[in-house]
Amino acid sequence: MSFILSPSILNSDFANLGREIEMLNSSDADWIHLDIMDGIFVPNITIGQPIVETIRAIATKPLDVHLMIINPYRFIEDFAKAGAYMLTVHYEACNHLHRTVENIKLNGMKAGIAINPHTPVNILEEIISDVDLVLNMTVNPGFGGQKFIESSYDKIKRLKELILRKNSKALIEVDGGIDLSHSKKLLDSGVDVVVVGSAIFKSKSPAETIKKFKRIS
Ligand code: DX5
Ligand code: ZN
Repeated sequence: MSFILSPSILNSDFANLGREIEMLNSSDADWIHLDIMDGIFVPNITIGQPIVETIRAIATKPLDVHLMIINPYRFIEDFAKAGAYMLTVHYEACNHLHRTVENIKLNGMKAGIAINPHTPVNILEEIISDVDLVLNMTVNPGFGGQKFIESSYDKIKRLKELILRKNSKALIEVDGGIDLSHSKKLLDSGVDVVVVGSAIFKSKSPAETIKKFKRIS
């Protein structure tokens, strides 16, 4: 079973960001996950478009951009210009989700929708056929290094059922608290894209840990 591994740089060494990106370039990672937080939708602030653009200039892998910001519609063009490949917005942060998804695609990016742990899968019923990816949060968004929510496995199975029933091509991504002990069960539940932050960047050898994750498939 092959899957896409998307390391999150949130807990990487920002003082040596260039080196961290080069490590990912030469690793077995498939995408690079960037967490954009506004301090309103989530209780934390991280990076914005200029840093994404700087990363784009040196990264050789697609940028998987996860927006945790209120009303993300305002910034779609900016992130297209900054070089995002996948642009994922939160269901809980959009008044006009359909318009937002269409605009992301019009700007040449793949469109993803993220849902928080408390948000049921069935709210995606009318939009699942229009999106390229659903990001199911396996922690409450805002910080790296939190504990994985165990009930996520059942939720992912329900999401997979919805995707199959609606004949959607959406990929399932999971994000938050994931370490090597979760990955096999996640893949068995129907996950296509796995985001991993601390388990990679807080390990002794991030490149070696990435290899271990990829060996699971
Ligand atoms: C949480 C972020 C995640 C997180 C992943 O709000 O969306 O991408 O940083 O890091 P870990 O794997 O440490 O939970
Ligand atoms: Zn994320």
